[in-house]
Amino acid sequence: MLLLKNARVVDYTTVTDKIQDILINAGEIIKISENIEAEANKVIDCAGLVAIPGLFDMHVHARDPGQTHKENLLTCAEAAAAGGVTGFLCMPNTEPVIDSVETINYITEKAKDCKVKIHVSCAITEKQEGKTLCDFAALAKAGAVAITDDGRPVKSAQLMGEAIIKGDDLKLAVISHCEDLSIACGGAMNAGLVSIQLGVRGIHRSSENIMTSREIDLARDLYGKVHIAHVSTKEACAKIRAAKEEGVGVTCETAPHYFALTEEALRTRDADYRMNPPLRLQADVDAIIEAIADKTIDCIITDHAPHSPEEKADFRSAPNGVIGLETSLAATLTFLYHTGKIDLFDVVRLMCVNPRRILGIDGGKLEVGEAADITLFNPDEEWLVEPEKFKSKSRNSCFKGMKLKGRVKYTIVDGEVVYED
Ligand code: DOR
Ligand code: ZN
Repeated sequence: MLLLKNARVVDYTTVTDKIQDILINAGEIIKISENIEAEANKVIDCAGLVAIPGLFDMHVHARDPGQTHKENLLTCAEAAAAGGVTGFLCMPNTEPVIDSVETINYITEKAKDCKVKIHVSCAITEKQEGKTLCDFAALAKAGAVAITDDGRPVKSAQLMGEAIIKGDDLKLAVISHCEDLSIACGGAMNAGLVSIQLGVRGIHRSSENIMTSREIDLARDLYGKVHIAHVSTKEACAKIRAAKEEGVGVTCETAPHYFALTEEALRTRDADYRMNPPLRLQADVDAIIEAIADKTIDCIITDHAPHSPEEKADFRSAPNGVIGLETSLAATLTFLYHTGKIDLFDVVRLMCVNPRRILGIDGGKLEVGEAADITLFNPDEEWLVEPEKFKSKSRNSCFKGMKLKGRVKYTIVDGEVVYED
């Protein structure tokens, strides 16, 4: 038995915010109340700490199979645990692409040795080539919970429409990486003043906006559901807000870098600030924060995208992507909670409840009978982001050198402490 003493228990579903003890047995929460007396084998003094349901990150590139010099499932799970993330969804742009039962089996087998719960999304089209739809029924049967060609858009609206219908039938979340490649192709940063001044090819905001409109139109016409990945523009926020008001089945996510940083960071010509979609303008940051606060944006994810220092060395040729598992909660607390834009219930809704709901995965609640997946953090502890200390294999953090406020102290999965600061 594990006993957590005097934690500030914050739970969105049960609308709880009070100092309580949590008693855990055989991986399950068996009691939550004040002053629990029990013969536990381990007691954690949680005075000053907040206890929330374990975070779930629905957008993680674990790079396994195939690109394990960047990350593998084990190191990715270590990084997740260090960030308070007790479960994540891995993206299918691996080598080979996750488009077969065999590759799903490889991941689910390896996931058994990992510290956190790993779920799989598989590709929409075979090899993510945009030509032939995958056999979704077989992939769902093998355990996939979502379909996406993330990293690439599905160019054909007809194929995307079919995927939305089939995904709905099979209860698979359909996730769209919104990018019109005819506009975006090959850019290194946001197309704007800074890219012009630096002489760097830009990625136009219309690339994301056009595709966001298409997905909303498809979801509306087909009475289907679509989840928009990594929203970065103010126009996309406005389109999604209007679609939701109309009752269209659209949900969406953003990542901490889109509410914390702008294209100004690219003036350093440091490829650790390169990702796709790119960092945009202050007006976009403001719109993203507004959309998070008014529930237009459903989830905060990381888009954890490890790349090696060698690959990131040259600004122009570097691949896009930043890691985020070990900074997502701290960045959310720093830029949204400590600034008064959202409260702790919102943090739980955005990072614990909604991602699981969208994917149809259990958990995200602190209640008797639930699996004991719990994140304990000190909301006020400040720390310096030093990527060389990360559990991730990669170092490409765009929060490096920043002081963040809020630190994960313990991560608990099925009643086991998998990370302790
Ligand atoms: O910046 C990105 N990196 N965006 C994506 O969509 C893919 C990801 C990756 O896999 O590196
Ligand atoms: Zn993407």
